[in-house]
Amino acid sequence: MKILAIESSCDETAAAVVEDGRHVLSNIVASQVEEHKLYGGVVPEIASRRHAEAIVGVVDEALNAAECTLNEIDAIAVTYAPGLIGALLVGVNFAKGLALATGKPLIPVHHLRSHIASNYISHQELKPPFLCLVVSGGHSHIAQVRDYTDMKVIGRTRDDAAGEAFDKAARAMGIPYPGGVELDKIAETGDDKAYPMPRPRVDGSPYDFSFSGLKTAVINLIHNKQQKGEDFSVPDVCASYRRAVVNFLCDNFLKAAEDLGYRTLVIAGGVSANSLLRRELTERCRGKYDLYMPEKYLCGDNGAMVGAQAYYEYLAGHIAKSDLNAVATLPISENCF
Ligand code: KG4
Ligand code: ZN
Repeated sequence: MKILAIESSCDETAAAVVEDGRHVLSNIVASQVEEHKLYGGVVPEIASRRHAEAIVGVVDEALNAAECTLNEIDAIAVTYAPGLIGALLVGVNFAKGLALATGKPLIPVHHLRSHIASNYISHQELKPPFLCLVVSGGHSHIAQVRDYTDMKVIGRTRDDAAGEAFDKAARAMGIPYPGGVELDKIAETGDDKAYPMPRPRVDGSPYDFSFSGLKTAVINLIHNKQQKGEDFSVPDVCASYRRAVVNFLCDNFLKAAEDLGYRTLVIAGGVSANSLLRRELTERCRGKYDLYMPEKYLCGDNGAMVGAQAYYEYLAGHIAKSDLNAVATLPISENCF
């Protein structure tokens, strides 16, 4: 079954053709990041406009690269939640129009479920159940993936998402948006023990996250140094901060795995590209857990992961009608169509 999948939840306009949920025939991503960089973050109004401009070309390119006509496509899939509402609406309306014009089924896909599904592409043998750490610019969850479309969140962030925590700390050091990627690179050259960082925890909720204390600590450290006119090493601050965030993510994730008896662990979302997170989990899981991570090109937002999840949504009978709406906030465990 060939699915044409569309993603426009944030600042990438993306489309892909994916066969049977696991085989990527094409994957086209048009990023708006250079424009949002000018403003230090995603400007929703600009994002929607750029999606509207790019979507026809991106979908066309995805079909061409897959050497596939619209006739040969079996279903149209689209990210409908969660995300920036104006951005989501562009993809949803385009997909609805295509589905209506071609008479093909329309498959609604939850953005975080699709991040998890990026692993089905990178690891053909991977099947639920497993425990997943989903870390993106907007979310930080520990989720029990009981089946392809049956998930339960057991840990979540109380404030910033992990990606946001990286981006905000990076911004305080003058690293342009989205700073998480650059901070990760700079941290590779720093000493992670140079600056002591707090060890956060959420009392009474061992699997929950809170990054605001860490973020404030690093921002205060930088401002303090600047006010006193003292030098500080950006690579050392990046490395110390990254170490603290990654330890927090790994500690809670592995505690949940141990408490709940999981042996298969999966990570997903933009932050799953973080080099230290990947190294640290690989090390700590060795001999104890089977660890799966998406290939780096599938960690950020893309259409292929939407096509992968869409296949399983389709098998579960999740087909939308032409009244499908975009939804800005929606728990991963729920459907809204
Ligand atoms: O999943 P994603 O592409 O978009 C959302 O759904 O939010 O995640 C984007 C986030 C950004 O905050 C970005 O800074 C972060 O993922 N990110 C990273 C790395 N690559 C992307 N954070 C830390 N280290 C990285 N290597
Ligand atoms: Zn995402």
